[in-house]
Amino acid sequence: MTELNLIGIEKEKAVNVSNTLNQLLADYQIYYQNLRGFHWNIKGEDFFELHVKFEELYSDAALRIDAIAERILTLGSTPYHSFNEYLKYSQTNPAENISNGREAVGTVLQNIRHLLNVLNELKVNAEDANDQGTSSFTDDMINSFEKTAWMLNAYLS
Ligand SMILES: [Fe+2]
Repeated sequence: MTELNLIGIEKEKAVNVSNTLNQLLADYQIYYQNLRGFHWNIKGEDFFELHVKFEELYSDAALRIDAIAERILTLGSTPYHSFNEYLKYSQTNPAENISNGREAVGTVLQNIRHLLNVLNELKVNAEDANDQGTSSFTDDMINSFEKTAWMLNAYLS
């Protein structure tokens, strides 16, 4: 008989969903720290605009990161929680010494496009596991990132 986890999802499939959530978490943490760096180091005539925008994005990311980690725990797995793990598993490059506004916005857009790929994969895995909680949990992040991608792209156009 198939073993179920605490919330009634097949254990094996829940692990698969958790692994993708951990991938998302690792990428999100690097994205978060990139935004902090851009918030601090940005220079030029768009300073006031971008300084505030990056703070808005990293504040949102901080809340999402907590929710992702707690979803992993709800599914019965352990979220990555060390810098070592984040650096080891993230497919997002840590950005260093970027002070140019367009370069920073371009990097954020690139990071978001990768996060959207992971989120789309997560959605598929969640549906496969009949994990409606994780599936609906991804929707808001996907919608929010898609809108941000449009705005950042408009800024760069
Ligand atoms: Fe600040």
